[in-house]
Amino acid sequence: MTVPLTVDFVAGRQGAWSIDRIVPVTGQSLPPAACLSIVTTGQPPVEAVAWQLKGTVSHARYSHRSELVELAARQEGLGRPASRRAVLIPIRKSAAWWALAQDERRAIFEEQSRHIRIGMDYLPGIARRLHHSRDLGEPFDFLTWFEFAPEDEAPFDAMLSRLRETAEWSFVEREVEIRVSRVQ
Ligand code: HEM
Repeated sequence: MTVPLTVDFVAGRQGAWSIDRIVPVTGQSLPPAACLSIVTTGQPPVEAVAWQLKGTVSHARYSHRSELVELAARQEGLGRPASRRAVLIPIRKSAAWWALAQDERRAIFEEQSRHIRIGMDYLPGIARRLHHSRDLGEPFDFLTWFEFAPEDEAPFDAMLSRLRETAEWSFVEREVEIRVSRVQ
């Protein structure tokens, strides 16, 4: 994969994923749509689109070397045949978060909130990709994408509950869950 890779999440009438439901978790939701497609050519369709979100797959900001090594050993990639379900979670963090220094954000993210430690418990069942959107002038700062087998949906939900109780999540001011299933 070339980094950075630009990814467009396009909601409309067609796509490889059918949208099961859109849940506004914090702040404003997104309009309803039938399907979601993931476009990596940089040329998303311009017509008949309900909404469209863009992000780039970029370098890690907060992970320490030991964490990157552990993640690489445990995680599996996107596109596994068993991954019939997926969730797109766009997230925007508050001005207070962005006013912090990098070391203060890392301390909240991992030393206080244990984001990586919690996430690690759900590997390799959950495959993931983080996209950065903040510097693109998008409505969200991050587009988080997760793929898993149907039997991993309950553990995924448990992970969401754990993460949303953390200090990191007190800085989340907009969050939407888009639950999808593979069309074929
Ligand atoms: C499979 C479980 C998960 C693992 C292993 C995991 C791991 C990570 C890692 C390693 C990073 C830091 C990347 C860096 O160094 O910059 C990160 C960032 C992030 N993750 Fe997760 N994560 C998981 C689940 C989730 C979930 C369920 C959400 C959303 C509900 C989420 C949202 C985010 C966001 C928004 C960031 C960016 C934080 C920032 O830069 O401020 N993650 N995750």
